[in-house]
Amino acid sequence: MTSRIKSPSRLIAESGADLEGHGLRRTMGLFQLVSFGIGAIVGTGIFVGLSDSVSAAGPAVVISFVLAAVTCVFTAFSFAELGSAIPVSGSSYSFAYASLGERVAFLTGWCLLLEYGVSVSAVAVGWSQYLNELLDSVIGWQLPAALSAGPGDGGVVNLPAVIVILLAALLLVRGVRESARATAAMAILKIVILVVFCAIGFTAYQNGHLSPFAGSGFSGITAGASLAFFSFIGFDAITTAGEEVKNPRRNIPLAILICIGAVTVLYCAVALAAIGALGPDAVADQPAALSVVVDKVTDSTIGGGIIAFGAVVAIASVVLAVMYGQTRILMSMSRDGLVPRIFEHVSPKTRTPVANTWIVALVFAVLAAFATLGMVVNLTTIGTLATMAVVNIAVITLRRRNPELARSFRVPLYPLSPILGVAFCVYLMWGTGWVTWLEFAGFLVVGLLVYAGYGRRHSRLVTDPEYAGQPVD
Ligand code: ALA
Repeated sequence: MTSRIKSPSRLIAESGADLEGHGLRRTMGLFQLVSFGIGAIVGTGIFVGLSDSVSAAGPAVVISFVLAAVTCVFTAFSFAELGSAIPVSGSSYSFAYASLGERVAFLTGWCLLLEYGVSVSAVAVGWSQYLNELLDSVIGWQLPAALSAGPGDGGVVNLPAVIVILLAALLLVRGVRESARATAAMAILKIVILVVFCAIGFTAYQNGHLSPFAGSGFSGITAGASLAFFSFIGFDAITTAGEEVKNPRRNIPLAILICIGAVTVLYCAVALAAIGALGPDAVADQPAALSVVVDKVTDSTIGGGIIAFGAVVAIASVVLAVMYGQTRILMSMSRDGLVPRIFEHVSPKTRTPVANTWIVALVFAVLAAFATLGMVVNLTTIGTLATMAVVNIAVITLRRRNPELARSFRVPLYPLSPILGVAFCVYLMWGTGWVTWLEFAGFLVVGLLVYAGYGRRHSRLVTDPEYAGQPVD
């Protein structure tokens, strides 16, 4: 069976991003890019997921964070090399199309439904937990579990998660996106909340709370790393802005490395502050863990309320950013003919993909209403790691297939770096557990059926005579 490939020059020409000043305006500098990255990265993972990683790894969760960060760094090098060779907005889907062929590209886009779509549900479920914490601090009342958690988490339906997704869709169809200033403000807000949290937590720090350091051994650290990885997802969003960045060949790799470095330091500090203050058992399995820690340390609900307020605002912005990403990926796939054309339709009135946005919102709102946080986080994690493994492989394939492409950034220690990238991705995928693997396998089978039944026949590489696709084995 052959798979069609889309040449890198074709991709660049289509995007108009031929570095000669055509296409989208290049307005984003390094600061804006880093703010954009922090905005997409910091959310439910650290505010809510921390407790699960601590429950798996104990104080050794700091090693889990470093392992997750190392995985991201190898993959970030690969993203940076591909982004410098093919500077288009489209992320791993486009890179796969140019190097590994249409079938893998389709499956990569399909996995991006996990990284972006399912993560909309995951982030919204996390948001709902902080909303309840905030209501509790402000008015001393919480929504009953029946209305604020899915059946697997002891409730019936998670209404706040549904509402935040529908509100985000309403803003997106009206064309509301965070302005550059709002993005920067949001990034600063997140950093300030986490730094304030550390400052409060460290006042109650006790060394004894850190031992035993790795009570669950290496398997606990591995499971913790797979869970911690969720809190790094989003750094690759920086590559989706490729066409709007000034000097992308320098600024994109630099911004990714700054973001990963900064959040790793911040996350380790948050984990040490939380565990040092109360001990691992008090942090583990605690929804809205950061608020709970601050409440206990300050012996009042005011501090926790402020953290919860910050988390509610900050996490809502991730819902908006991730849903925006999902609609744009579906638009790219629809333009390529791989998913139905309704996804590329732009309303003449609002100039936004209205039908696309509502379909995405409804599907992932239903998932958020009934899924457990653990299930959607694990699915997001395994899908994201799979796309990242593809990105690492794509670097090797593109070097062989298109050695002539100019690459202002080259991964260090080639081919060791992308090979280690794949190895780390598979290692963290392994840590998600067999139930997630089974769910993922089912998801891929459905993806292959959709490709065979629809994408392969409707691909523009087949239907559009202008396309000079070349078959590859
Ligand atoms: N990294 C993002 C979050 O933690 C997905 O919310």
